[in-house]
Amino acid sequence: MNQQNKNRQVLLTSRPVGMPTQDNFEFKNVSVVMPEEGQVVVRTLYLSVDPYMRGRMSDAKSYVPPFQLNEVITGGLVGEITESKSDQFKAGDKVIGMLGWQLYNTVEAKKVTKIDEKIAPVSAYLSVLGLTGLTAYFGLLDIGQPKEGETVVVSGAAGSVGMFVGQIAKIKGARVVGIAGTDEKCDYLKRELGFDAVINYKTTNNLGQDLENACPNGVDVYFDNVGGTISDAVMNLLNNHARIPLCGAISSYNSTDGDMGPRIQTKLIKTRSLIQGFVLSDYADRQSEGLQELGKWLSEGKLKYEETVVEGFDNVIEAFLQLFQGANLGKMLVKVSE
Ligand SMILES: NC(=O)c1ccc[n+]([C@@H]2O[C@H](COP(=O)([O-])OP(=O)(O)OC[C@H]3O[C@@H](n4cnc5c(N)ncnc54)[C@H](OP(=O)(O)O)[C@@H]3O)[C@@H](O)[C@H]2O)c1
Repeated sequence: MNQQNKNRQVLLTSRPVGMPTQDNFEFKNVSVVMPEEGQVVVRTLYLSVDPYMRGRMSDAKSYVPPFQLNEVITGGLVGEITESKSDQFKAGDKVIGMLGWQLYNTVEAKKVTKIDEKIAPVSAYLSVLGLTGLTAYFGLLDIGQPKEGETVVVSGAAGSVGMFVGQIAKIKGARVVGIAGTDEKCDYLKRELGFDAVINYKTTNNLGQDLENACPNGVDVYFDNVGGTISDAVMNLLNNHARIPLCGAISSYNSTDGDMGPRIQTKLIKTRSLIQGFVLSDYADRQSEGLQELGKWLSEGKLKYEETVVEGFDNVIEAFLQLFQGANLGKMLVKVSE
């Protein structure tokens, strides 16, 4: 097979200031790298675009190293093995891994994990049976610890993590209030996922008052995906011994002027609340536990998932940027090939 110029990849060519633009990236045609002993070639099927990747585009110190300039961006993807020089995989196997944003990745076999299409479609391994499902599972249950009858508020509620947080909280018997950015998203959360109350933060005239109405017994768990003024409003309603899993702060990822807000220390002291930042890799050694529970709820029909799929490798940057416009219901994915 002629491998010349068959591969195509996305490089980060400059560090964005504020909202990234297409100019920060470059598409490049290259040859597919031939596999050596112990390596496999993975043809990309779906790419995951994730808000945390914005952080890796900056060179500020974080829990994962920054992307290097003029190198291929890496992220979660599922693909199909097209060539294997490893006895662990054969051509046709479907796999998941943290690999390059390119049509073909040639990597050590140990960098990918086999996935089973009989359990769920391959794309599900990038959400409910992957990063966002596990993030919701551990953040909510380990830090949030919702109890029956308690009120759980989740921001970014119609996104991938948020949707699972709300559903898992319902499974645990909590009253669930979701905050999201369109009426369609809010309708979906109530109608399809059984959220008890929803608030459109973009159209409300008084977020604080709407939250108070939606949480007549106060807030016991606040799963924070967004930070900013939404979180400021929720903090006012914390009950004693409230728990706040701090998962994400997407409202500030493109901010250039710092992220100022009210001081919350006094509120946390008075309510003896727990606020804890976490990243999924903290739970690496418990991943199989999480996947087992998520898989069980999925097979029992207790957990639903949604995907917003953008078609075509060349639209990957646009798909990534659309996360910050709220274009997605559920997991934002890019379908690269069949
Ligand atoms: N700690 C961890 O290990 C971990 C792991 C995965 C994800 N995360 C974080 O969890 C959050 C959700 O991630 P996800 O992958 O599930 O993404 P997502 O929620 O599927 O997509 C992002 C959503 O954020 C909302 N949004 C965008 N800009 C906003 C703003 N300025 N204010 C409020 N909402 C805004 C949009 O929905 P609306 O229409 O509602 O605005 C958008 O759909 C992110 O902050 C992410 O960084 C953390």
